[in-house]
Amino acid sequence: MPELIVPSPAVKDSFWTAVEEYAAAGMGESPSTFSAIEIVWLYRELGAGDRLFEQHLARMEAEAAGDRPLRTYWWVEDGEFIGRLTLRLGLPMGERLKGGDVGYDVRPSRRGEGHATAMLSTCLVLARREGLEELYVNCEPSNKASRSVIRRNGGETVKLPHPRGRTEDGYLCHRIGL
Ligand SMILES: CC(C)(COP(=O)(O)OP(=O)(O)OC[C@H]1O[C@@H](n2cnc3c(N)ncnc32)[C@H](O)[C@@H]1OP(=O)(O)O)[C@@H](O)C(=O)NCCC(=O)NCCS
Repeated sequence: MPELIVPSPAVKDSFWTAVEEYAAAGMGESPSTFSAIEIVWLYRELGAGDRLFEQHLARMEAEAAGDRPLRTYWWVEDGEFIGRLTLRLGLPMGERLKGGDVGYDVRPSRRGEGHATAMLSTCLVLARREGLEELYVNCEPSNKASRSVIRRNGGETVKLPHPRGRTEDGYLCHRIGL
């Protein structure tokens, strides 16, 4: 059973293989595909490297420690990097609704196996432990897979006072009660 872990050097080789996959699949399918988009760019320019990996880990560690922490977790099984999930904490309500509290993606070769659904479900437990009573998750209206992941985790659409009830950027906002 995979688990959500804090990014770790132990997963380095598998992480780079996943980056290779993201790069091969093309980054155009969604702007939220792998937030570390520059990692893919650097990977293409410089190749996988220990220094780049260490910088990436250090950056995620710094983001997780801020006043408004951005926690990154990796979904890992038997040392294999399968996906990632981010959880933002400490944001004012306006920003939570606008950008959502959570982001996730699954490496292309492991999609359609229920990983995103399981990752988000595990994140609900983490969020509850952080004292949150609800979680906001946004996605593009055309992203059927993500909408299904959110629905399976109890998400309901929030009707925002913007055109078509969406965020300013046109995203659908969902609320999951914890
Ligand atoms: C969206 C994403 C995270 C889903 O990951 P996943 O591990 O494949 O999702 P799951 O296997 O848990 O599947 C969830 C549901 O989506 C459905 N699904 C999966 N791929 C699909 C596709 N291409 N089109 C339509 N539905 C799809 C599954 O059938 C399942 O539906 P069900 O629960 O009704 O059976 C993954 O496609 C991804 O990383 N996409 C790019 C990044 C992204 O869009 N992130 C979300 C931003 S909000």
